[in-house]
Amino acid sequence: MCGIVGYIGYREAYPILIKGLYRLEYRGYDSAGIALPNRQNELNVYKVKGRVSDLDEFCKNKDVSGTIGIAHTRWATHGEPSNNNAHPHYSQSETLALIHNGIIENYATLKEQLIRNGYTFQSSTDTEVLVQLIEYMKILNKTDLCTAVQMALNQVVGAYAIAVVEENNPDLIIAARKSSPLVLGIGEKETFVASDASPIIEYTNRVIYLEDEDIAVIKRNAPVKFVTIGNVEKTHEIIKLEMSLSQLEKGGYPHFMLKEIFEQPRTLRDCMRGRVNVDCNNVILSGILDNRERFFNARRILILACGTSWHAGLVGEYLFEELCRIPVEVEYSSEFRYRHPVIFPDDIVITISQSGETADTLAAIDLVRKAGAFVYGLCNVVGSSIPRNTDSGSYTHVGPEIGVASTKAFTAQLMVLSMMALCIGREKKTIPEPRFIELLQELNSIPDKVEQILKTNDKIKELSNIFTYAHNFIYLGRGYSYPVALEGALKLKEISYIHAEGYPAAEMKHGPIALIDNEMPVVAIATNNGTYEKVISNIQEIKARNGRVIAVVSQDDTTVKNIADYVIEIPSTEECFDPILAIIPLQLLSYHIAVNKKRNVDMPRNLAKSVTVE
Ligand code: F6R
Repeated sequence: MCGIVGYIGYREAYPILIKGLYRLEYRGYDSAGIALPNRQNELNVYKVKGRVSDLDEFCKNKDVSGTIGIAHTRWATHGEPSNNNAHPHYSQSETLALIHNGIIENYATLKEQLIRNGYTFQSSTDTEVLVQLIEYMKILNKTDLCTAVQMALNQVVGAYAIAVVEENNPDLIIAARKSSPLVLGIGEKETFVASDASPIIEYTNRVIYLEDEDIAVIKRNAPVKFVTIGNVEKTHEIIKLEMSLSQLEKGGYPHFMLKEIFEQPRTLRDCMRGRVNVDCNNVILSGILDNRERFFNARRILILACGTSWHAGLVGEYLFEELCRIPVEVEYSSEFRYRHPVIFPDDIVITISQSGETADTLAAIDLVRKAGAFVYGLCNVVGSSIPRNTDSGSYTHVGPEIGVASTKAFTAQLMVLSMMALCIGREKKTIPEPRFIELLQELNSIPDKVEQILKTNDKIKELSNIFTYAHNFIYLGRGYSYPVALEGALKLKEISYIHAEGYPAAEMKHGPIALIDNEMPVVAIATNNGTYEKVISNIQEIKARNGRVIAVVSQDDTTVKNIADYVIEIPSTEECFDPILAIIPLQLLSYHIAVNKKRNVDMPRNLAKSVTVE
């Protein structure tokens, strides 16, 4: 949430910062701004409500000279999207400018103190309080910027990734983080700072991830120095990132979301690479095998996640219970941490997160680690906070996911969970060897089957034209297909703004069936697996009430085709892998409906990709 980018070096900063903001725009896009200290001892701040393109337009006739600057794209927490609330924020004397991602929880108390000391405020943000506090510390203690930042951050409760620049000092950026991500790019005679590596990768693949309470002193033509807010000097290792620029571009697709949907055969293969070996009938997940005793003796598996990742967790529950015979509970991280959960030291906790930065999941991890449970992180973004705070884990390896609606990360999460269940089940002998081999061979064929489904894109597009103007949708599934129904509904609502609900098919008659009429499209996942006959009965119940049914069916289906109004065929597979296939047409359906409705598919209103606030 919110994107931060900063640059100091020998090139003009403005083009680098604007390009960086475009790359970070998926993190928030209600306002944008830039601060540029220049050699004339000026500190120019330009900011506007709206998108990065609005900022770029606004800056057309402005002085944007200089080889240092910081920039921000916002997802509002405190204060509505407006010019005043956009970052960067000046301090009172306009000699400092600051950008921030996170939340200052005690901002009200700090603001009162500052007001008592003569400070006035231009915005309703928590961020402006921080920049004023830094200035106050600087003046009060007659100290340098770094020390003032240290003093201010010691008074702050909350989460922050910040970058600060000052007038009369075009050779210095101070950056700091706590519970919000920040990464430095180390180039030749230039340094970058950003919320993630996407604005940096074009210039250097050498990065340093800041840790909580780190302050980076980034000086022109000098190695970056690190000190904590408690004034302990630190060093950091430079990491080489394996990310390519093409991963950050649309590659000819109209939207990142469509590109990412179509990437899934490849991303699923990447996810299996080096892990699934069908020639030797083996699945190797070192994160599990290196900790086999913990996994095999686990009393219970707890899965913690949010949103789409939570839906993947629900599929995980079915997989681990069926194939490993371990009891599983799946919890929203945000709910889990605020009750009084019972956590056993012999629990395995699996946390699932695309970004690896979701604040609620990070906080839940803290809680379970304190209780002595073993934490396994299932994550996409390499080097993000969750993998750095877990005992072991697996990456999904799908590359950057830029579309705000998660697609390729979800299917890869399902793939990793499937591999985990196979790996544990085989070692625990809860999967007999011949069955293991059957399942492994089938898993290996999943990317090809996804490829086959993607060929039905045109048909799904036609179907989307029929339902674009529906006001409500219901998605139904049973067993493994129930989480798919939830995920299908989430995809539709987040990008098309059509109300949609996912429901266990059999629960319909306990209430929601009252909603059914011919205005209400029902998407039913009716693939040929264990609950097939039951789902057919549920579809009949809907048809008997004039509902319009779009059914996702297996290729060999004959029955549902005669009952449903429309069918989308997908290849048959093992029931436990069905979700990886069944979600693909639902991703496409949501995508095309949203495009028909002229929605901003990659940046839906009110959303942001990485939810770094609670
Ligand atoms: C939906 C979506 C969100 C995320 C959720 C968790 O398409 O993307 O629901 O799944 O915010 O994010 P991560 O997986 O980064 O923890």
